[in-house]
Amino acid sequence: MKPTFYLTTPIYYVNDVPHIGHAYTTVAADVLARYKRLMGYDVYFLTGSDEHGQKVEKAATTAGETPLELADRVVKRFQALWERLGISHNDFIRTTQERHKKGVAHIFKDILDKGDIYLGEYEDWYCTPCETFWTETQLIDGRCPDCNRPVEKLKEESYFFRMSKYQDQLLAHIDAHPDFIQPKSKRNEIISFVKEGLRDLSVSRTTFTWGIPVPGNDKHVIYVWFDALTNYITALGYPEATDDYRRFWPVNVHLIGKDILRFHAVYWPTFLMAAGLPLPEKVFAHGWWTIEGQKMSKSLQNVVEPNMLIDKYGVDAVRYFLLREVPFGLDGDFSHAALVQRINSDLANDLGNLLSRSTAMAVKYFDGVLPAPAELNENDQALKKRTEEMIAAVEACLNDLAFSKALQAIWEVISAANKYIDESAPWTLAKDPALTGRLATVMYCLLESQRIVHIILSAFLPATAEKALASLGCGGEKELIGLTWGGLKEGAVITKAEALFPRIEG
Ligand code: MSP
Repeated sequence: MKPTFYLTTPIYYVNDVPHIGHAYTTVAADVLARYKRLMGYDVYFLTGSDEHGQKVEKAATTAGETPLELADRVVKRFQALWERLGISHNDFIRTTQERHKKGVAHIFKDILDKGDIYLGEYEDWYCTPCETFWTETQLIDGRCPDCNRPVEKLKEESYFFRMSKYQDQLLAHIDAHPDFIQPKSKRNEIISFVKEGLRDLSVSRTTFTWGIPVPGNDKHVIYVWFDALTNYITALGYPEATDDYRRFWPVNVHLIGKDILRFHAVYWPTFLMAAGLPLPEKVFAHGWWTIEGQKMSKSLQNVVEPNMLIDKYGVDAVRYFLLREVPFGLDGDFSHAALVQRINSDLANDLGNLLSRSTAMAVKYFDGVLPAPAELNENDQALKKRTEEMIAAVEACLNDLAFSKALQAIWEVISAANKYIDESAPWTLAKDPALTGRLATVMYCLLESQRIVHIILSAFLPATAEKALASLGCGGEKELIGLTWGGLKEGAVITKAEALFPRIEG
């Protein structure tokens, strides 16, 4: 039986169209999903949409639609973008689906029956855009501490989740599982937050109706975060003990942005504890993108639309940039100049030229039919060793979600291969028929090293890797021939690769 790997992205609100922040988490998750599949895992990659709550209700009213009409319209934008970006999710959950609503009602009732949800009364400051209640002391200058927008005083009858009861248990869990919350700096923030004391959490609303009704009291709808977080199990079939649920829960990693860490690292685990369910293995919070040095916002009109980037630069260039430019976990800045620089130097120059140079030589010197290598000399051995070491380095990096470092490790092989060409000077070897054997070995090592590079790269740049592997005479067989040196067989038909990435002029 294959080992399993379950990973998720946040489910995105449908009151907004997709932007680069959404694309970021989803592309990162896709790379990990593709990589794990390559490594032989049975992967369940979940993404979806968050469709309930006051925010969506208000946006629908403004647009003159019902919330479901709005959701149906906007969800298509997300799905179309994921398709364009080559996202290989196994499932797309919408919180308006029956399977989800049923599961949410079930877990709510379960916790209610166990006594950890109770009916009380709430009076506090509410930030509608963030769907969050704040206490007086949490406000900054009377405004929402997260988004700085005005808040309103709300009093309502509400169901409460006894989150306070789980404070010690949560701290003990975080302590016993050093990798549960990553990166480390974020883990520390959560520990301090929990140590300051957990209050019981309001988990229902009566001031609007767009949500899942509280079982047995439909004056209330379930709090949108309680509803949304539960998607991670309802997608697997919870409360049924389905095959998927039994094989994939607990999740290996929830990938999220840093702004929603508290929901994932405090609320969600305590809900699960109350329901008696296992906790996620890891929650990883990535950083935020600014745009040309500024916060991305509608009012500044600088929201980066991924479709526009894809039109201009191509899918794989966008995927590469997002994961290469900034270490996952840190904040970073998006700029067109930085993206063009990455395309020209890393993709067009290093990666693309290497492939077109080497396939062109194979065509020129051997009519595109790969010769068998003779014994490897020291230089050849060094390239082989570097390539093999890269495989292990990428494995370690990706297990830590260090996408940028993994790409650096791959690019070290690419530079080494470029240098290897210059040092081995195939054009000189080609002049002397007595050196044909040596030339064959050089060509073999060069192409074999790129075969392995492109198999690994297929997780990051799927379309590019497919083209490259086809010109290396092994398209479509990457799983079969695998990552072991020697996979490229004598007689493979090499064709000259077109430029993988055209240079972009300033
Ligand atoms: N619906 C909730 C998530 C529920 S998960 C159970 C939500 N949705 S969202 O559409 O507002 O945002 C989703 C993700 O986009 C978050 O992970 C957030 O960090 C990410 N980003 C939004 N703006 C971003 C940047 N400027 N940069 C990077 N990521 C950003 O929250």
